[in-house]
Amino acid sequence: MKKPYVFMSRIVPEEAVNILKENFEVSIWEKDRPVTKERLLEEANKADGLYVMLTDKIDKELFDQAPNLKVVSNLAVGYDNIDVKTATEKGVFVTNTPGILSDTTADLTFGILMDTARRLSEANRYLLEGKWTQWSPMLLAGQDVYGSTIGIIGMGRIGQAVAKRAKGFDMKILYHNRNRKPEVEKELGAEYRLLDDLLKESDFVVLLTPLTPETVNLIGKREFALMKSSAVFINVSRGATVDEEALYQALKNKEIWAAGLDVFKQEPIPMNHPLLELDNVVALPHIGSASIKTRRNMAILAAENLRDVLLKKESPHIINPEAKGN
Ligand code: DGY
Repeated sequence: MKKPYVFMSRIVPEEAVNILKENFEVSIWEKDRPVTKERLLEEANKADGLYVMLTDKIDKELFDQAPNLKVVSNLAVGYDNIDVKTATEKGVFVTNTPGILSDTTADLTFGILMDTARRLSEANRYLLEGKWTQWSPMLLAGQDVYGSTIGIIGMGRIGQAVAKRAKGFDMKILYHNRNRKPEVEKELGAEYRLLDDLLKESDFVVLLTPLTPETVNLIGKREFALMKSSAVFINVSRGATVDEEALYQALKNKEIWAAGLDVFKQEPIPMNHPLLELDNVVALPHIGSASIKTRRNMAILAAENLRDVLLKKESPHIINPEAKGN
């Protein structure tokens, strides 16, 4: 009997490829850059399963040309690159890789928070540019992290892992979320706030919400105006959750103190982007979950998800179980 056909849109660790090769006929986009739209559509047209990245747009146009497709496995916890509504209508399951990246992403979130607060990247640039000619009392002085107030927007798994780290720094923990989390309030001493109150009270505003139609430009001019002028804004969610022009103005006009950004509206961010001109911005190339161990585990989990859906029509990481009815 002919084996199901799977297309992988990027080179990933061998263990993950082998899981799929043991069961399916597999073809891989062998270049270390995103697959072209043309090739993706061509592959989707014959594939039973697609193993894709957050850089691949899996839209209606693709689903319309994918008669055999049964599963799209995303190598990420976020799945805003996939039109899940159309997938469900077409009876295609979509899977993601939650949980295993939470602590790694929380580490990075705390890292960029500390970098931005204490101006580590800026200080490193200063030294390398030969500007360190003398020690001076207020040279590169930043904001204290310990004992300050952190406001976490999006108290999912990653938000909770960030809160745990914040607790170790004696921070007061505020959070905003679609629904309240009594267990987190109890365990971590986190206090729920309406969004505006969180913005007003926090020294560090940390955005971790998924990108959905409701969270596009969630933080814009009005929201930056509510923040303290000493506030540090951190975004490790998706670029489109923030109005970048408003962020630029807020930073330039010193309405807020600094920003640490791991995600951008356009990725890779163009080198002439105004945000990159500012000294009070720490910018990273979307590396939230990028530890060797976690990326390897994500690659394996994404392969297992795809395999389990194709072989057994089940996986704990299906995000649209209702697709089954189609
Ligand atoms: C995700 O998983 O959604 C991150 O953005 C990449 O790890």
